[in-house]
Amino acid sequence: MVNMKENAGKYAVSHVRDGMVVGLGTGSTAYYFIKELGQQIANGDLQAIRAVATSKESFQLGLDFGIDMVRIDDVEKVDLLVDGADEATLDFNGIKGGGGALLYEKILSLYSDRVIWIVSQDKIKDKLGAFPIAVEVIKFGAWKLFKTFHQAGMNPSFRKAGKDKLYCTDADNYIIDLHLGPTDDIQRLAFELKNMVGVVDHGLFLNIADMIIVGTSDGNIDEHH
Ligand code: A5P
Repeated sequence: MVNMKENAGKYAVSHVRDGMVVGLGTGSTAYYFIKELGQQIANGDLQAIRAVATSKESFQLGLDFGIDMVRIDDVEKVDLLVDGADEATLDFNGIKGGGGALLYEKILSLYSDRVIWIVSQDKIKDKLGAFPIAVEVIKFGAWKLFKTFHQAGMNPSFRKAGKDKLYCTDADNYIIDLHLGPTDDIQRLAFELKNMVGVVDHGLFLNIADMIIVGTSDGNIDEHH
């Protein structure tokens, strides 16, 4: 059976060049990218690579695969960030945050010269929103925000970690997922969410990616740029 995530993740390493500072995304697709990157460094196919990570999990993975890991504030900029996405449209908008790493992912996107998303074919959509939109909120007043989303008909749910515990992000915030369904005015939604007091950021990544690498069900790769 074709592993579309693995194909996309491995292929993306062909865009890495010697001497780059590489951003490591988070999630099951990014995992394959990180693993392949580590292998090509170990083989000597890639040299003088340093990497920054979009989560504690990916930082640790980078170390495990022998990559020279540094922190975002220790580098001038990131040359190339390779990250997964939960949904993407071919006009370079997407939803991220299914793995809870949206805040660090957005920060690294901002300081990266180039951003490549790696996705399986099923994640390419005409319209965003079937996948829940993660909203990272500070803990203080989180239930008040939840109520506001509920009253606005946005079908919120708190992200859980296990049965009785709320999920906490790497920055020690909560996530409220909005179950909206395919949504037309995604730009307006992004603007409104960002302007709510207590919201740190959200999973709508609009006009951030420069390229989308799609692993297809027949085992091929499509590059969109
Ligand atoms: C992490 O918070 C997310 O943005 C991931 O990049 C996204 O959920 C894609 O994850 P998978 O590659 O595991 O599908």
